[in-house]
Amino acid sequence: MVKYRIAVLPGDGIGKEIVPPAMRVLELIGDKYGMEFEFKEALVGGAALDLVGVPLPDDTLRLCLESDAVLLGAIGGPKWDQLPTHLRPEVGALLPLRKKLALYANIRPVILYDELVAASTLKEEVVAGTDMVVIRELTGGLYFGEKKREKHPTGEKAFDTLVYTTEEIERIARLAFETARMRRKKLTSVDKANVLESGRLWRETVTRLAGEYPDVELEHMYVDNCAMQLVRAPKQFDVIVTENTFGDILTDQASMISGSIGMLPSASIGGQVGLYEPSHGSAPDIAGQDKANPLATILSAAMMLEYSFKHYQGAADVKRAVAEVLKKGYRTGDLAQEGNKVVGTKEMGELVAGAIRTD
Ligand code: IPM
Ligand code: MG
Repeated sequence: MVKYRIAVLPGDGIGKEIVPPAMRVLELIGDKYGMEFEFKEALVGGAALDLVGVPLPDDTLRLCLESDAVLLGAIGGPKWDQLPTHLRPEVGALLPLRKKLALYANIRPVILYDELVAASTLKEEVVAGTDMVVIRELTGGLYFGEKKREKHPTGEKAFDTLVYTTEEIERIARLAFETARMRRKKLTSVDKANVLESGRLWRETVTRLAGEYPDVELEHMYVDNCAMQLVRAPKQFDVIVTENTFGDILTDQASMISGSIGMLPSASIGGQVGLYEPSHGSAPDIAGQDKANPLATILSAAMMLEYSFKHYQGAADVKRAVAEVLKKGYRTGDLAQEGNKVVGTKEMGELVAGAIRTD
């Protein structure tokens, strides 16, 4: 029996609630196809700060590096917001984890399930049938460029810098071209080349590579226009590739096309070990109340099956199970509409598990 080691990092807030249903789903897929998953849990984010005083303990990083994949819940919360930047869960744990695992590509599929068309805040005719993938560069750009603060006559002055090398742009662009090649063969490269020098290098580099992918139609779009086009006509997009911060913002926006940010999974790849996490945060306002939508995490587990274990059948089973549960009218609060059966985190997890078992 093939065995995989999975590092499980529930983290903070709703992270602790949404991870167990995803583990259960993996176990069931394992039973069905003869895979064994060995889960080892570790501390990250605020949970780690509280217990051992650092947001990313060495043990946690070591466990991730020794595993075949990482399943992460969410990190951060108001309790740790006042800490110095380097200790805050986001900057002190999630960013270094991405960097140290060399996860330069973050893949976020934005799919509107037919059953959720009415849940989107946008009009049905605009969003129905949306199926795109946003590929966000994850270890460079504005998040990772040099930052500093210094004194200034008015108080202080703060810097963040947006840096990219040709190599960093090339590797993410190649992945995007290859992804588009397996889909509808359209790639939208999003930048701000009309203002930013890094955007000009981005555009030149992507344009140069396009020659190697003559079967893929490449278009360039400024990020502000892209934000507008996403709500105007989202179906025009197949694959989007963009800078780290732009991708962060555009995917939160795009998540509303799929009904809720609670539906948006993600895979971070590029290094030896892939990391899978929902695109949403730790939602402190609903933490511990059995209200969070576990589907983004369950769908992230499906991406793990796909990207880390190449088990496309298992991934398809998970997606089918999710669609089936939605079709029966079950929804967590974030997606609930009149006539739906509103369920909590645990029950939603059990329903998906049940749908896999009876598959
Ligand atoms: C995301 C999140 C993170 C990010 C935060 C928690 C640091 O918003 O994964 O989109 O900005 O990358
Ligand atoms: Mg984000």
